[in-house]
Amino acid sequence: MRKKIVAGNWKMNKTLEEAGALAAEVMGMVADEVKGNVRVVFCVPFPYLLPIKNQVGNNTRIAVGAQNCSEHEAGAYTGEVSAAMLRSMGIPYVILGHSERRQYFGEDGKLLAKKVDIALKYGLTPIFCCGEPLDVREKNEHEKLVKQQVEEALFHLDSASLEKVVIAYEPVWAIGTGKTASAQQAQDMHAIIRRHLASKYDKSVADNISILYGGSVNAANAKELFASADVDGGLVGGASLKSREFTEIIKAIG
Ligand code: 13P
Repeated sequence: MRKKIVAGNWKMNKTLEEAGALAAEVMGMVADEVKGNVRVVFCVPFPYLLPIKNQVGNNTRIAVGAQNCSEHEAGAYTGEVSAAMLRSMGIPYVILGHSERRQYFGEDGKLLAKKVDIALKYGLTPIFCCGEPLDVREKNEHEKLVKQQVEEALFHLDSASLEKVVIAYEPVWAIGTGKTASAQQAQDMHAIIRRHLASKYDKSVADNISILYGGSVNAANAKELFASADVDGGLVGGASLKSREFTEIIKAIG
């Protein structure tokens, strides 16, 4: 059975002190209120990985993730962070291919295939993001684009490697806009992604992969979004910065 995951993408927000307070609050609420077996991930800025990881300690429900890693092994790449470094710090997850990285840092499918490879090589779980911008959806080409994003970055993997990947479908028009995809739109695209994986690999492989929805998930819409058969949780931006709101989102699946 695939895992249920609610990951908070903190993006480039919070001071160290604020980050610690947020983590502490969520940890407390999760301990007191969350009953089901949902995996919670705090995807924090690089400088906070170790302090937040230490704070989380050996909590079995909550893990810490990075928001990116380099496609290179090591060397003269000023300002970059390698998968090996994340591994050496005991960080299990890394977001790859977020639309903000694609848009502002020119990341494309070819680069992301390399990042996925190096993350897997170092035993990290990539949370691989895909999703279409508004103009693509308006032209009704979203299915084609998302399938292509998945193919470019993941279809070179063998099935054992693919099964280690988590996919996040994040329609760009829903990110940070307050305009969420409807539960039906999310379910439709998740089913398309899963069928596409099944066509390349097989149904049991596709059925084992967690596919998260991201884009203006909040406490009010999470339950409906997560109720869909192919939606295995969420990748949450803005609402993950507020402890009560994020906990309610976790409870919507747990
Ligand atoms: P929002 O939840 O703020 O729309 O951001 C979604 C996102 O980009 C998560 O990676």
